[in-house]
Amino acid sequence: MFYPLSSNSWDKEEAEVFQQVLKKGRFTMGENVKKFESAFSLKFGVPYALMVSSGSMANLVALSALFYKKEHPLERGDEVIVPSISWATTYYPLQQFGLKLKFLDVELDTLNIDATRLEDALTSKTRMVVAVSILGNPCALNTLRSFCNQHKLYLFEDNCESMGATLDSKACGTFGDIGTFSTFFSHHISTMEGGVIATEDEEIYHLAKSLRAHGWTRDIPLDSSIYKKENDDFYESYRFILPGYNARPLELSGALGIEQLKKVDSLLDIRRQNARIFVSLFGEDERFIIQKENGISSWFSFTILLNPNLSVERSQAIRALRQAEIEFRIITGGCFLRHDVIRYFDYETVGDIVNANIIHDRGFFVGNYPKDLRLQIEKFWKVLDSAVR
Ligand SMILES: Cc1ncc(COP(=O)(O)O)c(C=O)c1O
Repeated sequence: MFYPLSSNSWDKEEAEVFQQVLKKGRFTMGENVKKFESAFSLKFGVPYALMVSSGSMANLVALSALFYKKEHPLERGDEVIVPSISWATTYYPLQQFGLKLKFLDVELDTLNIDATRLEDALTSKTRMVVAVSILGNPCALNTLRSFCNQHKLYLFEDNCESMGATLDSKACGTFGDIGTFSTFFSHHISTMEGGVIATEDEEIYHLAKSLRAHGWTRDIPLDSSIYKKENDDFYESYRFILPGYNARPLELSGALGIEQLKKVDSLLDIRRQNARIFVSLFGEDERFIIQKENGISSWFSFTILLNPNLSVERSQAIRALRQAEIEFRIITGGCFLRHDVIRYFDYETVGDIVNANIIHDRGFFVGNYPKDLRLQIEKFWKVLDSAVR
């Protein structure tokens, strides 16, 4: 494959980590996970960071925590405003907890939720907005945050695609009452599988910590507001307070995360250098709509939408890319409303969903990763230039 979708961000340091963890002989969540969490909260300027086994589990545990808050917990039947484009596991926990989804269209250029339509989705049952910054590009987080403040709603930030992105110098993933990250292969840092929950709220943090490990009280400090320790140590060691999960990460993932975080700035720099080449080639060409940066993107990938005014079909472009050995895929998961699984959801669409469908039918992305991709991007340009005429 001349230009694959993804590539490894590991080097010799990560290889050594395998040996170190093997030598230590502790494989389940331990010191390395704790160290990674501290480094993560320092790096992204958020008081509490909790590592879990994946970004999807981060979404599940994080949402679950909001259902067990002492004050203003979410309840079944509450409404949540969501974008029409995101990954499937942004939505699944919402369905699993009995929330009603109100889908808003996205913007054709940023690919993010159309925040001008928020008021249209608001009812007396609305309790939360889900913010997703698609493929590294910050969504209108300030607008979403003030809307939530104004209407006393939770802001849930699924930032699994946008580690390292910032808006007004604030890290994406830290605007919400709770934010989630993924450290899956091909993401901005990789721990094989892994995810992180970030929050400023101590109660949410303690709830998420307990929910991560069986709804147990283990590791929850004695002065926590989520339970009162009693005197019988025998029972206290195995006390269960919440219907939780096993979402614990491996110690190896924590150790890999420590090494990857040390490099995250330089990994992001290379992605951004590649992005400059991509934008210089495609940015001014009316045949293609590329992702318009809002704030500072962490450029997960390079998206192309074939301008809806053109008669050219995507299949034409795709045939040429296949021949040139350039890998491509649908943008995130496409329009979620187009998937069979939607039949299990309680949902409504708010206004017409036009752009998400265009993205589903006329969009695709190619890879970006921390390697110099000049030759690949230039060839990508040449192939599309001659295929889309
Ligand atoms: C927006 C979004 N949320 C959640 C996830 C799930 O992350 P993971 O693959 O680590 O489970 C992804 C995956 O890429 C994603 O793109």
